[in-house]
Amino acid sequence: MIVPDAPPGLSPGASPGLTETAPPTTVQNLPPAGISWDPPAGDLFTADPISQAATVGAIATLVSHCTKCRLCEGRTHTVPGEGPDDARLVVVGEGPGRVEDETGRPFVGPAGELLTKILAAIDLPRDRVFICNVVKCRPPENRQPQFDEIAACLPYLHRQIEIVKPKVILAMGNTAAQTLLNAKQSLGSMRNHVHRFRGIPVIVTYHPAALLRNPNWKRPTWDDVRIARRLLD
Ligand code: URA
Ligand code: SF4
Repeated sequence: MIVPDAPPGLSPGASPGLTETAPPTTVQNLPPAGISWDPPAGDLFTADPISQAATVGAIATLVSHCTKCRLCEGRTHTVPGEGPDDARLVVVGEGPGRVEDETGRPFVGPAGELLTKILAAIDLPRDRVFICNVVKCRPPENRQPQFDEIAACLPYLHRQIEIVKPKVILAMGNTAAQTLLNAKQSLGSMRNHVHRFRGIPVIVTYHPAALLRNPNWKRPTWDDVRIARRLLD
């Protein structure tokens, strides 16, 4: 599955928008800069338990009692995310599916098996990656999370990223990309750029569940995750 050569769209000069005036220190062959977004950071002086949580375990405990949105009603388990507090890569998906709700673990169903393979292909054992979702409770019938549910849950994700301080974030699918970048663009238009979230590079790619339905997207996904890999090195 590993394709060692740079894919056609990423050769120098072939990337859309890659400028010829890039300074010599720019990492070659990376896509151009995308959206930067600086959401309000937590205030040191508030008593908000989320901004005071110091570990991803503390966030998981808060999530386990959370009733801030209607998704708490149908859940079996909360799925806060898992991985080391000091992971270099954070993967963000949309929300727990059936198997995730049953187990309390992110990305363990069919889409998760594919994610594990994708990570292994860039030499990242999944236990070295922090893997989580935009919403921490399963939406009924796996529907997309609604705007108010995302808004209610987002402080947990923001704090998780703040604690882990990854070198790179991989946003998988529309919901993760649009939420992290506070943008409305399509996934296709957000791919092929290095975006930033609070200064951390964000790579946008297809959701593994979409890849299971549409194997044609595997190749572009592979291109995206290799960019993430290069930013980690
Ligand atoms: N899809 C997601 O977005 N997240 C999971 O954890 C599983 C499937
Ligand atoms: Fe709380 Fe998020 Fe679950 Fe909603 S989805 S109840 S905000 S943890």
